[in-house]
Amino acid sequence: MNLPAQVQLIDVGPRDGLQNEKQPVAAEIKIGLVHRLQDAGLTEIEVTSFVSPKWVPQMGDNAEVMHGIARKSGVRYSVLTPNMKGFEAAIAAPRDEWPDEIVVFGAASEAFSQKNINCSIAESIERFAPVVAAALEKGIAVRGAMSCTVGCPYEGEIAPEKVGYLAGLMKGIGVQRVDVADTIGVGTPRKVQAAMEATLAHFGVDAISGHFHDTYGQALVNTLAALEMGVWNYQSSSAGLGGCPYAKGATGNVATEDVVYLLHGMGIATGIDLDKLIDAGVYISQALGREPNSRASKAIRTKRAG
Ligand code: HMG
Ligand code: MG
Repeated sequence: MNLPAQVQLIDVGPRDGLQNEKQPVAAEIKIGLVHRLQDAGLTEIEVTSFVSPKWVPQMGDNAEVMHGIARKSGVRYSVLTPNMKGFEAAIAAPRDEWPDEIVVFGAASEAFSQKNINCSIAESIERFAPVVAAALEKGIAVRGAMSCTVGCPYEGEIAPEKVGYLAGLMKGIGVQRVDVADTIGVGTPRKVQAAMEATLAHFGVDAISGHFHDTYGQALVNTLAALEMGVWNYQSSSAGLGGCPYAKGATGNVATEDVVYLLHGMGIATGIDLDKLIDAGVYISQALGREPNSRASKAIRTKRAG
């Protein structure tokens, strides 16, 4: 197996993780999580989303969180922006508080697109196009998240052709890189590889990341399956936080701690200090009143306790 020597991780916990929390989490705690993640060596962090606070109240403090972060050089901070209103809100702050990258988010499933962003796939691309153009014009990078690339809570299994179709549309409007997301964590290795293959018809391997939720406990094997294809960018949440408010029953992203343990165990560099990462996961879990949802974290903390 010829695996990548290095992997770039994007911690999406402050956004994908916390967006699903019913209890309000203070902006100060979110900022504290971002600081701990960057101290642990994460160089990409998805901080928040500029979506409607009526739809996702937890992200209503987006500007406050972006304002409160003490930025570390070399770290890329990204935010979700579904439309021009969200993009304009993301750049309403002074230049040094702008995101380094914005994320437009579409779905390979029509039904999910409607539930999540209240429009069809075609309409979503029409809404994203001016956002992408405006971001690029301002020197902000653009990523495209593609939800439900193997399965959808409403439509069931998703054919790779639908993934290829969406990837082509994203490419056509100028999106620079894309996330192949298993939103509800139903994927298994061959299905994930088929979704990746369909995406590779439009984006180079360096411009594709894997975003796996762990609902069925398949996220790590799916990561390995994508690694085998040369994919070396992955998204995960510290402490395995999260889920998606519009994907009922879907649990959190794969825990960053578990992915880092897997990668380091295979001799793949991440630049992340696993011990510090575990402490970041404990910090946010304590704020939420629960244990980190990470097996590696649990095992290492048990060992630490002697
Ligand atoms: P809409 O209702 O169709 O939008 O929502 P609209 O343009 O008709 O506007 C309706 C109201 O929303 C108006 O306010 C707008 O001003 C306001 P009103 O006049 O009623 O007071 N509005 C906004 N407010 C703040 N920020 C905005 C914004 N846009 C409109 N950007 C919209 C469309 C997309 C806004 C809505 O459906 C929404 O916010 N959805 C939330 C979607 C979301 O955050 N989902 C979770 C993230 S995606 C995810 O988790 C998947 C991912 O992790 C990958 C994976 O795992 O698959 C990325
Ligand atoms: Mg997600």
